[in-house]
Amino acid sequence: MNNRYELIEVSTQGSIGVVALNRPKVLNAINRPMVAEIVRAIEDFDRDDNVKVIVLSGNGRAFAAGADIDEMSNATAIELELLNQFTDWDRLAWVKKPIIGAVQGFALGGGFELALCCDILFAAHDAEFGFPEISLGVMPGAGGTQRLTKLMGKSKAMEWLLTGERMSAKEALHYGVINRVVSKELLQEETMKFANKIAKQAPLSLRLIKESVLKAVDYSIYEGMQYERKNFYLLFASKDQKEGMRAFQEKRKPNFEGE
Ligand code: CAA
Repeated sequence: MNNRYELIEVSTQGSIGVVALNRPKVLNAINRPMVAEIVRAIEDFDRDDNVKVIVLSGNGRAFAAGADIDEMSNATAIELELLNQFTDWDRLAWVKKPIIGAVQGFALGGGFELALCCDILFAAHDAEFGFPEISLGVMPGAGGTQRLTKLMGKSKAMEWLLTGERMSAKEALHYGVINRVVSKELLQEETMKFANKIAKQAPLSLRLIKESVLKAVDYSIYEGMQYERKNFYLLFASKDQKEGMRAFQEKRKPNFEGE
């Protein structure tokens, strides 16, 4: 366990870097220092050659019940503009390694937005996702209206965002917001199993596939395919491409080194 953090728990399990939000008494409400810690821990893992995949979860009965309402209730618009706090959140979008989210209980508001920063999402049966900001007289500010709409399309996103209603794990799965629903008891185990599975793949391929898939969300198909092609060519500069193809020809398992 890494002790440099106060609001999160950070550890490594083999080649998986694990970040767990740790303010369970307030359902992991995300305050600014917590965002700073999350970003720091994830960026450190992104730079660590021994870590291949990052897992993000929440301790206690929630993943995160949103941004900390107590921290922002008296804020003024100008304070928020000058604080420019969401640039910290933006840094998560630059992380190169796959981030897998494990969600149990509430993932609301900023908690849902944090989950939407993950590349793959596993959820327990009891998970509930939603944007209750509308009932607080505000709206999502860390990407919720954009990421949810890209994932589920305009009509359904509009409905969830305007009502503030919560979607169950089953509904989230149905709309393609998450990847898997598993029992609460098995959430961590199944997430780690999946993380370990992809951690065995060639690290540079993981990196460039993630990057290319994310571009598909923003680019036209033509631009996206140009981007994909360049990344495909780039992998031929890696030792792992030579190793992967040689291993196939020699009928053995490849030994990838991330170079
Ligand atoms: N901020 C601050 N504290 C929070 C919190 C939040 N987002 N969510 C929960 N808590 C605190 C509660 O105040 C409570 O603290 P006390 O024990 O000191 O009273 C503790 O966590 C436990 O919560 P509840 O007693 O309310 O638990 P519950 O099971 O009855 O209800 C809940 C759970 C439905 C999630 C409810 O806590 C709730 O509605 N939370 C707020 C959800 C929300 O509105 N999130 C959006 C925030 S705005 C945002 O995120 C903006 C953005 O886009 C960045």
